Amino acid sequence: MAEAPCDLLVVGAGAAGLTAALAAAERGASVLVLTKGHAPDSSSMHAQGGIAGAVGDDDTAALHAVDTERAGRELCRPSAVKVLTEEGPARVRELITLGVPFDPELNLEGGHSRRRVSSVEGAATGWAVTSLLGRRVARTPGIATREATNALALWMDGGRCLGVLTPDGPIAARATILAMGGAAALWARSTNPEGQIGDAIAIAFAAGAAVADLEFMQFHPTVLAGSRLLLTEALRGDGATLLDDKGERFVDELAPRDEVARAMVRKGRVWLDLRHIDRGRFPGLMAEIEMAGFDPATQPIPVSPAAHYTIGGVVTDLVGRTDIPGLFAAGESAATGVHGANRLASNSLLECLVFGRRAALAALDEPAAPLRSETQPLEPPAPPPARTASQELRAQVWREAGVMRDPADLASLVRSPDAVASLVARFALARSESRGVHYRIDATAADPAFEGHFVLRPGRELTLEHWT
Ligand code: FAD
Ligand code: SIN
Repeated sequence: MAEAPCDLLVVGAGAAGLTAALAAAERGASVLVLTKGHAPDSSSMHAQGGIAGAVGDDDTAALHAVDTERAGRELCRPSAVKVLTEEGPARVRELITLGVPFDPELNLEGGHSRRRVSSVEGAATGWAVTSLLGRRVARTPGIATREATNALALWMDGGRCLGVLTPDGPIAARATILAMGGAAALWARSTNPEGQIGDAIAIAFAAGAAVADLEFMQFHPTVLAGSRLLLTEALRGDGATLLDDKGERFVDELAPRDEVARAMVRKGRVWLDLRHIDRGRFPGLMAEIEMAGFDPATQPIPVSPAAHYTIGGVVTDLVGRTDIPGLFAAGESAATGVHGANRLASNSLLECLVFGRRAALAALDEPAAPLRSETQPLEPPAPPPARTASQELRAQVWREAGVMRDPADLASLVRSPDAVASLVARFALARSESRGVHYRIDATAADPAFEGHFVLRPGRELTLEHWT
C-alpha cells in the first residue's frame, strides 16, 4: 500500500524541482522531492554561463523578450516569453538575497543585445545556484527528499495522476510536478549527465499527456572534443574565437547557436582559441580544461557540437498544468513554447526559476485527489521496468537525428523500440523544413506553413498548433 499522500510530489532535484519545492513549502505544503540519481546528476548542477534576466541598467524585459523571440524563429509563444522576461529579474534578485555570490560583471552570450547573464566565477553558476537551493531544501521543514529513486511511471486512476510508481512502491500526492530535465543524453555526444534520457516525456506520454516540439534538440557548439565538458558561450562573449584547421575564423562566434553549430559541422575540425581572453574570470573551467590535458594559455582547444537542451517536452500552460489532472511539469521537461525553435542562451535556468515557482503555486490549488482509500483501497499497478539507453541507441540517435538531418535516417529512427527516440524522429520527419535548431538537408529553408508547434497526444496524429 502507498504511504499517506503528501501535498506535492516533485520528481527531480534540479533548479526547477528545487525551486518548486521551496515555493510550495513556504506556503506550508508537505513536499517530497524524488530523484533518480544523486544531487550532481542534474543538468542544473553543470550549468555554466549563467542566468539571463534584464537586471542591467541599460536593459529591459522588453529588450530581453525581443532577443528571445528573435532566437526562437517565429515560434516562441508570446505569452510565455512575457512571463519569463517580466518575472525573471525578480527571481534573479531573490537568488542574490538568498546569497548566490554573482560576479560583479554581467556576461554576454550569443543572441543577446545586452550583457544580461548573471554568473558565478564565470562558469560555475549551476553549481552555485543548485547547491544553494539544495541546502535550503535540506533545511526546510516540510520537505523530505529521496535520492536514488527512479520514477518509472505515473500512478493513474480514472484519468487522474495520483503520484508515481517506483521500484520501492507507489508514492501518492495531491499533485505531482515533473521536473525531470531533458533528453539530450539520448544523443551519444551530449553535455548532459548520462541519466538525462527523457524519462518525463516517456512516462507522461505513456499516461496520456500531450508532448510537443520534440524535433527541437539544441546542440551547443563548443564542447571539448571527445568529452562532455562544455566550454561556455560566455568565453565567446569575452572574445574567444573559433578557428578552422588553417587557423582562420569562419563564423560570427556570437551568432545563434544553431548557426554556429552548423558552420562547425561543415568545417569538420574546429578549435576554440582562449589565448587572449581573461582566463582568471573562469578559474574552475580553466582548471578542468587543464585537467583534460590542454593548456588554454598556449594552444587552441579542439571543440565540436553536442546535444545540449531539449526544447520540446510535456505540453503545459503557463502555470505548468498538463492535460492530465493532478500532473504538472516545469523546467526542461516542459514544453511551454517559450523557446520557440531555438533557445536563447541562459534562458533555461531562468525558465526553471520562473516556471518552477509558478507550477508549485498552481499545484497547491489542486483539489485533493479523489483517493478511494478510505472506502475502497486503491491497488496500484506494478511498475514497468526502468528505461535505459544503450551506447548503441545513443550512437544511433546521434547519427540519425543529429545537427543535420536526412529524412531517410529519421525514417529508420522512427522504428526504434525506445519511445522517446522514436517520438523525436516522428516529430523531425513531420517538420519538413529547417527552422532554428532543426535542420533538414532536404528542405534547408524555413517554410511559413510550419509556423506552429507540433503536438502529439497518445493514439492521435501529430497536429500543428498555434500558441498565443
Ligand atoms: P535537471 O537539472 O536536469 O534535473 C533533472 C532532475 O530529474 C535530476 O535530479 C534527475 O536525477 C531527475 N530525474 C530524471 N529522471 C528521473 C526519474 N525517472 N526519476 C526520478 N528522478 C529523475 N542553462 C542556462 O540557462 N544557463 C547555463 O549556463 C547553462 N549551462 C549548461 C551547461 C551544461 C553542461 C548543461 C548540461 C546545461 C546547461 N544549461 C544552461 C541548461 C540548464 O542547465 C538546464 O536546462 C536546466 O538546468 C534544467 O533544469 P531542470 O531542473 O529542468 O532539470
Ligand atoms: C553556456 O554557458 O554556454 C550554456 C548556456 C546555456 O546553455 O544557456
